[in-house]
Amino acid sequence: MNNILVTGGAGFIGSAFVRHMVVAYPDCNIICFDKLTYAGNLDNLLPVSDEENYRFERGDIADRRAVQRALDDYAIDAIVNFAAESHVDRSILDPDAFIHTDVVGVYILLDEGKKHGIERFCQVSTDEVYGDIHVGRSIEDDRFLPNSPYAASKAGGELMVRAYHVTYGMDTVVTRGSNTYGPYQYPEKLVPFFTTEAMDERMLPVYGDGKQIRDWLHVDDHARGVDRILRFGKPGEAYNLAGENQRLNIDVTRRILELLGKPQSLIRHVPDREGHDRRYAMTAEKARSLGWNRQFDFDQGLEATVRWYQENEWWWRKLKTGDYLEFYRQQYADRLESVS
Ligand code: NAD
Ligand code: DAU
Repeated sequence: MNNILVTGGAGFIGSAFVRHMVVAYPDCNIICFDKLTYAGNLDNLLPVSDEENYRFERGDIADRRAVQRALDDYAIDAIVNFAAESHVDRSILDPDAFIHTDVVGVYILLDEGKKHGIERFCQVSTDEVYGDIHVGRSIEDDRFLPNSPYAASKAGGELMVRAYHVTYGMDTVVTRGSNTYGPYQYPEKLVPFFTTEAMDERMLPVYGDGKQIRDWLHVDDHARGVDRILRFGKPGEAYNLAGENQRLNIDVTRRILELLGKPQSLIRHVPDREGHDRRYAMTAEKARSLGWNRQFDFDQGLEATVRWYQENEWWWRKLKTGDYLEFYRQQYADRLESVS
């Protein structure tokens, strides 16, 4: 694998992967292909933008001609697909873009990858395909029970990957990551949203009782896991990348406030997310068998992450303007008003 196309590489996890790969494999060319939606950000790639083995192409994975061109121009031999609409709340407000990218886009990438005879296709998926896990932890053969339009779109994309492996013998692997946190995360997801809101002493809208459980994985551990599975995963297999750090949302929220020295009174319990999954939990045994181990302890990782947002206002402050404010209004205005 000399020429690797990283789709969605300007987003949160994709950019961590690009930054990692460009440095770890100087003999590989890493081509980032990204539509630059609201979540895509070239600032995330500044640390590697001058490296010789890095290139950027703007394009949509659901645009067949743009994908063909990229595969030809760079003689691509592997695709790692991070491109997705990734925010559950936005999928509840309007699922359209989720079907376009997470289902149709994955199909176009697979189909063009097959025609170009690529050596390997790695699909980055999520623990949300398993649905709400009341007890125990999901293993890779468990059934899919996605609950949000986002989770269903990711499950749809994954099933197409499976079909291309079984039907056409394509060499595919799938990674299923758990809730990821770290630097350069668009400030709509819990950790960066609450951190940046709290820095400005604004209310933190915790959905429902806040006792939902998420399993937290540091973005650099996630990126290294995808690298491992790309190189050593068995064709046709899926691998959980679990943080094995389960926390209540309310505890994560309280800890963010403590780390920032802000009052707990900023917390507001607002009406719950529709169809809100109570708990996600997976085992990471199978990924460990390939030699992957997470390196970050959650408490230290969260502290370093909060510090990063404190020290990098240049990065996030300009994102919380324009369309973001319209999303904020739709998602939170009524919720916050109903409890004030
Ligand atoms: P993100 O929203 O930060 O980034 C998504 C990237 O995809 C952006 O750069 C965006 O511009 C790009 N993109 C969107 N539509 C595109 C299209 N049609 N063509 C090309 N590029 C497009 O997402 P993220 O949090 O970095 O997640 C990356 C992947 O990891 C996603 O597939 C997501 O489902 C999965 N995942 C995320 C988490 C998490 O906690 N963030 C956990 C597990 C799995
Ligand atoms: O589990 C993996 C998934 O994690 C990924 O597949 C998704 O791409 C990623 O967005 C994330 O999904 P979540 O819905 O779990 O992440 P989010 O940060 O939106 O929410 C985390 C938890 O915090 C969830 O239980 C909802 C809650 N929450 C979130 C926000 C933004 C709140 O209570 N209030 C909020 O304002």
